[in-house]
Parts: sequence; C-alpha cells; structure tokens
Amino acid sequence: MTPAPRKIFVSSALPYANGSIHMGHLVEYIQSDIWSRFQKLRGHICTYVCAADAHGTPIMIKAREAKITPEQLVTLASKEQLADLRAFGVAFDNFHSTHSAENEELVGRIYQALRDAGHIYTKTIEQAFDEQEKMFLPDRFVRGTCPRCKSEDQYGDACEVCGATYSPNDLIDPVSVLSGTTPVWRESEHYFFRLSAFGDRLREWMAKAALHQNITSKLEEWFNAGLQDWDISRDAPYFGFVIPGTTDKFFYVWLDAPVGYLASFLHLCRQRDDLDFDEYWAEGSKTEAYHFIGKDIVYFHTLFWPAVLQGSGLRQPSSVFAHGFLTVNGKKMSKSRGTFINARTYAKHLDPSYLRYYYAAKLGPGMDDIDLNLDDFTARVNSDLVGKLVNIASRCAGFISKNFDGRLADSLDDEKLYAKFSDAGEQLADHYEAREYSKAMRLIMALADEANRYIEQKKPWILAKDAGKQDQVQAVCSQGLNLFRVLMIYLAPVLPALADKSRHLFREESWTWNSARQAQLGSSIDRYEPMLLRIEPTQVARIIEDSRESMKVSEKAAESPEITIDEFMKVDLRIARIVKAQPVDGADKLLQLTLDLGSGTRNVFAGIKAAYDPAALEGRHVVVVANLAARKMRFGTSEGMVLAAGPGGEDIFLLSPDSGAEAGMRVK
Ligand code: 2FM
Ligand code: ZN
Repeated sequence: MTPAPRKIFVSSALPYANGSIHMGHLVEYIQSDIWSRFQKLRGHICTYVCAADAHGTPIMIKAREAKITPEQLVTLASKEQLADLRAFGVAFDNFHSTHSAENEELVGRIYQALRDAGHIYTKTIEQAFDEQEKMFLPDRFVRGTCPRCKSEDQYGDACEVCGATYSPNDLIDPVSVLSGTTPVWRESEHYFFRLSAFGDRLREWMAKAALHQNITSKLEEWFNAGLQDWDISRDAPYFGFVIPGTTDKFFYVWLDAPVGYLASFLHLCRQRDDLDFDEYWAEGSKTEAYHFIGKDIVYFHTLFWPAVLQGSGLRQPSSVFAHGFLTVNGKKMSKSRGTFINARTYAKHLDPSYLRYYYAAKLGPGMDDIDLNLDDFTARVNSDLVGKLVNIASRCAGFISKNFDGRLADSLDDEKLYAKFSDAGEQLADHYEAREYSKAMRLIMALADEANRYIEQKKPWILAKDAGKQDQVQAVCSQGLNLFRVLMIYLAPVLPALADKSRHLFREESWTWNSARQAQLGSSIDRYEPMLLRIEPTQVARIIEDSRESMKVSEKAAESPEITIDEFMKVDLRIARIVKAQPVDGADKLLQLTLDLGSGTRNVFAGIKAAYDPAALEGRHVVVVANLAARKMRFGTSEGMVLAAGPGGEDIFLLSPDSGAEAGMRVK
C-alpha cells in the first residue's frame, strides 16, 4: 500500500512591497520553490504561499515621497515583484498581502487570544521622537553605536556586526535617519507580548523542530542572554492595522508579517474546497509547516513567531529553514560595481533557468553565504547544463527523428545502466528533502557524465554509417534519450521550464518522481528543438552594464523635488580653504574640517574619511554651502556643508574649484 501523501505548508519570507526583486531575494525564492516543487513531484500535497509585506514606516514614507497612498505603492510594487518571481519559475500557490481582510481578521484573532491568555500588557516607554518630522521613529530609522560591540552606524533594532538585538534607546549617540537630528525621547504607552514567559515552551519546540545546528546555537545564545518581552505596538502615523480598542496605536509590522503567511493560506482555503485552514493551523495539526527565511530574520521566526502561535492556541512550525546571504563576485552586491542586479535586468539578458541551476548547485541546508561568481556561473552553466545535460539529448534525438521517424526502440540497450540511473532516485530524493541541493546537483551531473561516456563509447554517428547497424543506432540513441529523461525528471524541481520542454519531447502528459522508474520504449518523440544555449560572456557584461545604468536612472528618479531659481539663489555657495582636517574620535566616516571662508573660519563635519587622507586636504579649496543652518551632530556643531560627488565609500570626490579660487568667493 502506498503511504498517504504528506500535507505540507511551505512559505518563503514576504518581500517588503517597496522595492524590486534582486539576485539576493532570489536565493530564497528559488530555494523554497525547488523544495515545494520537489514535494509535489513526489506526490505530496504541498501548498506554497507568500504575500506582500505591506506595512510599516518605510513603506509609509516612500509612498509619501512618491505622492501616492501606501496601498497604491504596495499594489504597484507587489505586482512587479510577483511578475519577476514568476519569470524565474517561482510558482506560489497563492501570493496575497499582509494588508488584507484575511490578515486583519487573523491578527485580530491572535491578538485577542494572546490578551485573553494574559500574554499582553501595556507599559509606558520612552521612544525616539523626531521633532523636525513630528513623528516617533521606528527602530530602523534611528542609527547609532551598538551598545554591545560598539560598532558605529548600526540600526536601532539590531547590530549587523555582532547580531545583538536591542531597542533604539540602547544605542549610543542615536541620530534620526529622516532629518539627521538627534531624536528626543518621548513617553508613549506601548503593548508588549510576554515573550519572557515562553522560554521553556520554546526550548521544547526547538528540540522537536529539528532546526539546523546554525539556528540552535543562535537560539541557545538568546536563551542564555534571557528572553525580553516584545513591543508589538507603534504610534500613529503608521501604515498598519489599528490595535483593537485603540485609535492611534498600530500593530508593529513584524507582528502582522508572519501572520501574513497564514492569511495567504486562509485566502487560498476560501477559494478551494480541498484545503482546510484549521486542519493545517489548529493546535495538534498532523500536517507539516515550514518557513524558508534568510539568516537575518531567524530571531523573529524562531522566538517571536512560535511563541505567538503557541500563546494563541495555534500549531507551531514543524521547522524553520534559514539560508545565508548572497555575494556577487565575492563581495556584497554593489550598485556602483554593477553587481546589484535586479531580477528584471538579469531576465532581460539571460534565461532564469541558468540562475536556478547555479543557485541549486551552491545551496545546502545551512546558513553559509553563497557567492554568485559571474565567471564561474558562466563556465559552470555552459559546462553542466549545455555541455553535459542537454548534450545527451541533442546527440541522440536527431538520429531517432531522422532515421526512425521519431520512434524509440522497444527495449533498452543497457538495462543495468538505466537501473543505476533510476535507483539513484531515492538518494537524490533524500538530498532534496534535506535541502542538500548541491549534493543532488553533483550526483546528477556525475550521472550525466556517465550517460555521455556511454554515448561516446557506442558512437552512434559511426554506427549510423553502416546500413547493417541501424538497430543498434536506434537502441543506443533510445538508451541515451531515456537516461536524459530520467535526469530531467530529477531536475524538474530546479529546471521546471527545461523539464517541461523535455517532457513534451517524449510526448508525455505529466511526470511524477516515479516516472523515472519506467523507461519510454516503443513510443515516439517530438522533433528536437535546441533547448538551451550557451551563455556568452557579453550577455553577462550587459547585465552589469544595465545594472549600473539602472542605478543612474533610480538616482535620477530619487532626485529631490523641483525648486525655483529664486529658491536656488538662496543657497550661498562659496569657496573655502581647508585650514585643518582631522579625524573624529569614534567616527569611522567623518573628518572634522576647519574652513576659511574669507570672513572667518567655520567648523564643518564631512563624511569623506574613506576617500581622503586628512593631511592631503589641508590647503585645498572646496565648494561649501555657506548659509546652511548650523546642525548639532553627535560630535559637535557643523556650520556648513562641503560639496562632493560620488556613490560613497572610497568613491567620494570633492568639488575642486580652479586654482585661481580664493576663500570667500561666491560660486554662482
Ligand atoms: O525581512 C524581510 O524582508 C521581511 N519583509 C520578511 C517578512 S517574513 C514574514 F515574517 F512575514
Ligand atoms: Zn554590535
């Protein structure tokens, strides 16, 4: 008796609905899509959902800047995101939004349950407030020095250097990202979730969830440090759901975002008779639920989320799978290097299948970062997919079409070899199940090598010249095509488009994993059309070029609103001579400049330390905004602004006036 199919819920992290999908996002979507496709191919009932992560201050601010409503921004951004993901073969069963009726309903239900069970309390806290912008600042809109490791310029919620999580008022020397001013601390009543009460239950869950070692060691660290209660509310103005019973308090985006997984599923259940929400999400559910995420959001998914689910009487995830970050050519993606590549830019030049394969060939179950080395990518795809895999079919299909009217032989030429391929199915399935995709790809390519060796030895192109050996040609080419077919079935989760083409070649309606057990004999194939072309290095070069271009375009789009000539004339641009330049204690990026403006000296802080050696600056002339209101900064007051150009970091170029310039001269 075949065992009953497993019922599996799969999600990938919800993309914030305010930007484009890029190569980094695709690591996750491709990883989870492969897994969901694999489960379906094995005959399980797998439901793969995602949604737009719609709420929060960044989206509210971006919409405000674009002079549209946040709802409009979310609709526009997520439409583009979904189209891009589809182009890369990512096949969600549902893509919904956290700004939806289903999510509001579920968040309300969960909140009510948590409150009834005593897991919520209110407390007046002090929060960063930007007096210039007249709003409370979300954690990420305050930057400063990490209280734990003392790294500078860290976000207000977590340190990217040491991984510590904290609240913005723990930061040393905080600054508002919106206005550059130092925030003040204002009191406000906030809602807290009693995470501290969930330690034991979370430990139990952790033991059951068979989390990867990388995650359990992180969790141990957090348990040892002591679990902190979690602030789940934000003050108006905020784009989110109002907390029931209040008018100006909103649920923090990170409370309603994971609920969005369930909302997307609920939305689907309401359209389909064969899916029952409670069967999957009620406590004690017999189904499986997995979240694929990036390593940066492990805390939310392995502490808050399972605790919120447990506290509200819902089932917890069976496991959480976290992957690492993407680097391109060994470095963080960079707009100026042209390696910040959007999905759309890539797809304009190259087949998404290549990227799916390359990522699969690199992915394992852990949180190691993966590198998209563009030379290696080109070489590997050309060698594995074109040189090895597709080559098997292209060497054999022509003979079958031309010499045998498309008909495959009635029996296999080498049954043992076929059995070896079909027996590899179980080991490959184990690799996929364990998200050991790189191992699976290696094994498949080793089999592809064997198939090529077989054809090489049999040399059908020589046999074909001998009228008496036509049966052998048919047998050898049918064997080769059948080996190709088995490999394409195994690769279907990774290369769905190529698998479809291959399936059509064999004129088959559908494939399951077990289709590999049965060879295609005596049937006819379609005419073979070339399936995949080699990557030309010029195509990759064009992607880089376009990515640099699109940076310029987006910089243009991000230009400030138009000003009139009268407004411009108000800016007093002057030549200044740098009298003194010195580093600022405790600031990585700043130099303190003493400027001579003819009429006296000024103190100005400029973020140019990475680009200029202070000693080399002394005596140099620069252009300065002389009538900028003095600004209090962390290290003192800045009385003007030095003009420079460039993307930042080491690429900052001071505007140098001609040598005839004198301090104090007006520039316009
Ligand atoms: O980090 C992010 O990009 C979030 N938008 C992921 C949310 S995942 C889930 F919790 F909704
Ligand atoms: Zn730190």
